[in-house]
Amino acid sequence: MRVTVNRKAHFNAAHRLYRNDWSDKKNEAVFGKCNNPNFHGHNYELIVSVTGAIDPETGYVIDMKVLKDIIKSEVEDAFDHKNLNLDVPDFKDLNPTAENIVVVIYNKIKPKLKANLDLTITLYETPRNFVIYPGK
Ligand code: NI
Repeated sequence: MRVTVNRKAHFNAAHRLYRNDWSDKKNEAVFGKCNNPNFHGHNYELIVSVTGAIDPETGYVIDMKVLKDIIKSEVEDAFDHKNLNLDVPDFKDLNPTAENIVVVIYNKIKPKLKANLDLTITLYETPRNFVIYPGK
């Protein structure tokens, strides 16, 4: 019997989508508003989903307090009120699209979990636009 437990979190961050090796015109055409040279912010909403067996002793899949602390140290402390392009080394050479951000978050949290737990990350960039990465 495997159960998925979910915890929501959020962070505010600025970004700009562009490629150095493209002209301004092509960047503008491909990335539109998200190419704004002066950056812009999003209120990112995150759902961290952990799937595993229920521990017969505790009745938990994972202690929510433990999960909360992992999300705080790996995501909130690293991304909240940051400029993803300039302040976060993960995006030094990686366009901070929602797709790339969700993979970075997965790769930061997964090693902190017991190996027998599966992880899926859902990231909302806007209330209507969201991406999901189940790690495969
Ligand atoms: Ni944007």
